[in-house]
Amino acid sequence: MNKLVVSLLLTLGITGLAQAAGDAAAGQGKVVVCGACHGPDGNSLAPNFPKLAGQGERYLLKQLNDIKSGNRQVVEMTGLLNNLSEQDLADIAAYYASQKMSVGAADPQLVARGEALFRGGKLKEGMPACTGCHSPNGAGLDAAGFPQLGGQHAGYVAKQLTDFREGNRTNDGDSMIMRAIAAKLSNKDIAAVSSFVQGLH
Ligand code: HEC
Ligand code: HEC
Repeated sequence: MNKLVVSLLLTLGITGLAQAAGDAAAGQGKVVVCGACHGPDGNSLAPNFPKLAGQGERYLLKQLNDIKSGNRQVVEMTGLLNNLSEQDLADIAAYYASQKMSVGAADPQLVARGEALFRGGKLKEGMPACTGCHSPNGAGLDAAGFPQLGGQHAGYVAKQLTDFREGNRTNDGDSMIMRAIAAKLSNKDIAAVSSFVQGLH
């Protein structure tokens, strides 16, 4: 693990949200409305709706809080979380985390460039490899709040990277880690690395 990752782990450990213990069974009863977009078990079919199945519990809870507070704007979810308590959100996060993310396929034309970026970063430009935080198999590291990318829809991943780059998604903390990384990615880089992770497992 490199120094950047270690210092980020420490920062996240100190400032991370105190986590209410989630109950996955209770959570299942609270996601009926979510299934229309995210799929009943969190494996959505449309590429603009992120898969939530198997995503890290801590990461999910942080996103739910960020979306509820408006710190991350998701217009499609406007008002949906307003009546949910902190316990409800923790139960929902536990439920989706207990499911398994399905895997897609990478575009063979884009694999080589995508894999090189994912595993090697852009050293000359000081951009670290994605593997340092999101792990070599794309599973992420939930204790540090690093989300799973392996299997996620390429369309959704590409939109997030573009949003981070353009400043339309800003909930990556004071270290601005994803905004700094995305700033180094061209549109072609984003298309390639997004396609690569969709097939990664
Ligand atoms: C009308 C469609 C729709 C419904 C219903 C909906 N969502 Fe979403 N959700 C979205 C979209 C679209 C995004 C991604 C927005 C973006 O591109 O940043 C999202 C993002 C998320 C994320 C962030 C995922 C990540 O990987 O960062 C979570 C968590 C989430 N939704 C949970 C829920 C829960 C829980 C419910 C039910 C209470 C719900 N959503 C209902 C459309 C929906
Ligand atoms: C130093 C650690 C670190 C590195 C390196 C890193 N990421 Fe991230 N990434 C994060 C963190 C932390 C988040 C969650 C931010 C938040 O809480 O909203 C994240 C979030 C993301 C998301 C949003 C996931 C979702 O479900 O919405 C995508 C996509 C992503 N990273 C892609 C990449 C790619 C591609 C690379 C390599 C080019 C990369 N990351 C390198 C730490 C890192």
